[in-house]
Amino acid sequence: MLGRIDHIGVAVEDLDASLALYAETLGMPVVHRETVTEQGVEAILLDVGEGHVELLAPLGPETPVGRYLARKGPGIHHVAYQVPDIDATLAALKAAGTRLIDETPRIGIRGSRVAFVHPAATGGVLTEIVQPAEGH
Ligand code: CO
Repeated sequence: MLGRIDHIGVAVEDLDASLALYAETLGMPVVHRETVTEQGVEAILLDVGEGHVELLAPLGPETPVGRYLARKGPGIHHVAYQVPDIDATLAALKAAGTRLIDETPRIGIRGSRVAFVHPAATGGVLTEIVQPAEGH
């Protein structure tokens, strides 16, 4: 059902400091930077091999990533798996009784369609499924 790992989401306090680490020290090329207002984050996507790292900085303390940072501090926030058909994957997860955060896909960065599975259903790992936009 799931394809390869699309990206690891990393919650950060300071996007530019993190960019210095990932882009300059670790040498990952930046492929995209976008503010997703409805999710309350500014995100930077970097290439690493065939996958990505997604740096997430909150737009304010009362956003999901802002609350995550206050609770746990910076670090790995979620793991995202690529799927060819997110509607089929969500239907299969619902049929299996899996607890979801998103019952229907929302628009992620670069026009992808994404949905989150509740970490209570996945052993504490916040899990995202991603159907990339055409051409990505
Ligand atoms: Co993500």
